[in-house]
Amino acid sequence: MRAKSIQVNPARHLRGKINVPGDKSITHRALILSSLAKGGSVIKGMGRGLDCLATQKIIKRMGVVIEEGEDLFVQGRGIHGLEEPGDVLGCGNSATTMRLLAGLLAGQNFYSVLSGDRFLRERPMSRVTEPLTMMGAKIWGRKRGHFPPLSILGSPLEGIRYSLPIPSAQVKSSLILAGLYAEGETCITEPYQSRDHTERMLKFLGLPIERDDLTVRVKKLTSFPGREISVPGDVSSAAFFIGGAAILEGSHLRVLSVGLNPTRMGFIDALRQMGADIEVHLEGKRSGEEYGEIEVRGRRSLEGTTIEGDMIPRLIDEMPIVAVVSCFAEGQTIIKDARELRVKETDRIRAITTELRRMGAEVEEREDGMIIKGRGYLKGAECQSYNDHRMAMALTMAGLCAEGRTKIRGSDCIDTSFPGFWTTLEGILIE
Ligand code: S3P
Repeated sequence: MRAKSIQVNPARHLRGKINVPGDKSITHRALILSSLAKGGSVIKGMGRGLDCLATQKIIKRMGVVIEEGEDLFVQGRGIHGLEEPGDVLGCGNSATTMRLLAGLLAGQNFYSVLSGDRFLRERPMSRVTEPLTMMGAKIWGRKRGHFPPLSILGSPLEGIRYSLPIPSAQVKSSLILAGLYAEGETCITEPYQSRDHTERMLKFLGLPIERDDLTVRVKKLTSFPGREISVPGDVSSAAFFIGGAAILEGSHLRVLSVGLNPTRMGFIDALRQMGADIEVHLEGKRSGEEYGEIEVRGRRSLEGTTIEGDMIPRLIDEMPIVAVVSCFAEGQTIIKDARELRVKETDRIRAITTELRRMGAEVEEREDGMIIKGRGYLKGAECQSYNDHRMAMALTMAGLCAEGRTKIRGSDCIDTSFPGFWTTLEGILIE
């Protein structure tokens, strides 16, 4: 297992311009859909974290030729062109890889097995295996389909109407991908809007998808040509630096060419609610996704806020850094309706509470969130990442804003989504 520790010293400011890696969610979808196209696709600016590389490797194992350079060239094999893999498909730590591919593989005409590292093998999969089974999928996993490995015997599928019990883009996308191989219409309704990259990319590729508020409808796929797909910078990776710069007075940070999809902007809304000085400059739309620049200036005073309801899916991955910022905001920050955090890369409610308390924060753990009483200060401590990339990056920002030195055990997991994180940080760090 990857581990390694890192020491973080207090910083004065974060200043300058940065680029962040290509969006992880969009990259997974670009890889999967381009492999089904007829002919070549070029993916520009893709994320090269370990999660995206896991999806890339699996697609290659099903016979898709990929040429790697600055851009990625994917020679799509058409909608029925994937080949039965000769071995178990390793998803590493990536739940997005496993859940999206479970949907895709359910409707193929071959057998496949999806597995992952010991952390992924403890993450819930019945949220996809149950509705996929309703569509006619033959899919098995440990504990009655609840845990990986997932073993999938591709079979004919039928469209269903399904209301997601929780807002989840992974589940929605898994069912959309299965729906592309199903007879009739697949109709999926969410309680709140989750990220909509799959829907946007299908539309961009000219595939039949209809959206009406919280409902998405798809029909069986027909042949479609490959295209050039541009992936914007990952706003979830940018969030750590934006959060750090918002805390450190006198900071001035510009994040260039980053994705500005509204379903991902909850973090910016939350920070603004707290009084952070953030400007968003929309520059345009590429491959169906808005992109532009985010500019943040560090302010002396931030205020506590409440984060709940439909805002949660729009900032679910940013919660560790929201919690860090809350420690520097005056008054209480209340986070609720966020039970999903308990089944992310780690139980993030427990992990955030434990680690921020180590750093002197006053945090109350709740079943579906936490209450943080901002004291405007954290102290350096010895912390751990729980092998969770977003915990490691959030704790790094906490360490930069704390008094005294912070040690983070298990910092290597940052490569899951953000190889180059430390170099990016060095470029803007003023000690
Ligand atoms: C993702 C969806 C979210 C998010 C994950 C990526 C995606 O998960 O937390 O990092 O790419 O669809 P859920 O759909 O489980 O909320």
